[in-house]
Amino acid sequence: MPSKKGRVFSGIRPTGRAHLGNYLGAIKNYVALQDEYECVYCIVDIHALTTVEDTLDLRTNTFEMALDLLAAGIRPEETILFIQSHVPQVTELHTFLSMVTPLGKLTDLPTFKDKVRQNPNNVNYGLVGYPVLMAADITLYRTDLVPVGIDQAPHIEFTREIVRSFNYRYNTDVLIEPGMKNTEIPKVLGIDGKEKMSKSLNNHIEIAATPEETRKRIMQMVTDPQRIKRDDPGNPEVCNVFALHKIFTPQVDVDMIDVECRRAGIGCVDCKKRFAENLNQAFEPFRARRAALAAQPAQVHAILADGAERARALAEETMQAVRRAVQLP
Ligand code: TRP
Repeated sequence: MPSKKGRVFSGIRPTGRAHLGNYLGAIKNYVALQDEYECVYCIVDIHALTTVEDTLDLRTNTFEMALDLLAAGIRPEETILFIQSHVPQVTELHTFLSMVTPLGKLTDLPTFKDKVRQNPNNVNYGLVGYPVLMAADITLYRTDLVPVGIDQAPHIEFTREIVRSFNYRYNTDVLIEPGMKNTEIPKVLGIDGKEKMSKSLNNHIEIAATPEETRKRIMQMVTDPQRIKRDDPGNPEVCNVFALHKIFTPQVDVDMIDVECRRAGIGCVDCKKRFAENLNQAFEPFRARRAALAAQPAQVHAILADGAERARALAEETMQAVRRAVQLP
């Protein structure tokens, strides 16, 4: 694809069905980047093993994530979509990179400290090496640009450092320092209106939910905490429902809601009903495509197998150069 600007790579954790936060923060960008870049997207099941105990869930969750990505508009004819463990070269590169990784750097990372706090009883060796495996993902496919949220920025910086150390130590230029594209949109809050939307907090709205489930979830959303009675004037700028209206509702209606909320012309219940309608309408084509794919699991597995084959070809090319660089006997 010579007309494209370079190669994008990103990994997405197999957390099962995607929610609105996953969609707006990552998936939507993955889809858009396909127009300008040659894209490689990977569902990182090996990374998930650092914290997941039930591998049966891992299998289902990986498949559900693949359905969401494909239904959202990842085009497997051009983009490489695959499952991380289907390209075992990544674990080999991970081992080589680990030799140029100072241990203290890994244990100092804020993301590592967070994981230890969340999972004090499962601080395994793999968890410490999480960023090294990520660096292996990125460099294995000779990535120019990595689209990630701001929480992952330290890992990209870490990858750049590891690339420099590796190339210096082995006197080579085989690994490429990736650039980072911050794809963060204003944080998507959960239905509690307080915390970032996340499955573990159960404050999320699944994009594959039925219209009815979606409506129910939206009706539970916390709005402007100052607005208690229907007649109280509202403050749209602090309301999470309004924040989402701005993304999914036509501008004229957003302007109307802005004005009417402030003078209590529209109540929160009506405002949420409108949002539910607009969101359901926006995701109708997605849900239809997703249902069609879910009805053909063999086809989805074939897409992932084809992606893995193309990914392995790129990976093996890099690894041949890497093995030469480290001068394995
Ligand atoms: N660590 C990333 C996350 O938690 C997922 C990931 C794994 C990734 N490998 C990657 C992201 C490589 C970008 C590039 O979201």
